[in-house]
Amino acid sequence: MTDSRLSLHEARCLLLDRASPTEAWVEHCHQVAKVAHHVGAALQQTGAEFDLELLEVRALLHDIGRSKTHGALHGWSGYCLLKGEGFAAEGRGCLTHWLKGRSHTEVAESDLWEPSLADRAFEALGPHWDLADSVLSVADSSVQHTTIVPMAARHLDLDQRYGKSPWLTRAAELAESQAAEISDALGFPLDDLLAPLYRAS
Ligand SMILES: [Fe+2]
Repeated sequence: MTDSRLSLHEARCLLLDRASPTEAWVEHCHQVAKVAHHVGAALQQTGAEFDLELLEVRALLHDIGRSKTHGALHGWSGYCLLKGEGFAAEGRGCLTHWLKGRSHTEVAESDLWEPSLADRAFEALGPHWDLADSVLSVADSSVQHTTIVPMAARHLDLDQRYGKSPWLTRAAELAESQAAEISDALGFPLDDLLAPLYRAS
């Protein structure tokens, strides 16, 4: 199957096709896309070069695997779903919000899945992690359920919901370092950009 490119409108339709807009995880996806757009547009103004619409599409669809499972593999499930429809590039957000910038070894060592899944996931991800990947990761770390919040609040909520674990602690660490990378690129703290969005619907 040849890959085509989904527009933002088509991505919204695809999401609607897979789930009710009243489901909390769908609203979460819209909020993550809103944050990704906000950060991505600000980065573009500093001269960073990436496809803003693709970033927003990836953010919008990052949790589409939740239409199949809410388990630990929803990221992989979402990627497989989109790849199966010819949208592997758009499915990258499913991988990046799951892997979060971890190394192959870290993912293979998890007892949540077979080590061979790490091989398949990293084969799909490829060797590069770029600024747009960091924006998506940070955007997902900034939306608690359906509310945009400081990342520390989001990660605290995850610890409370799922129980503190090395996997979640590492996710918080990686998001903080990605936020620092974005702040450097912006030339000012990312939190200054996001603060007006906190608690907004
Ligand atoms: Fe998410």
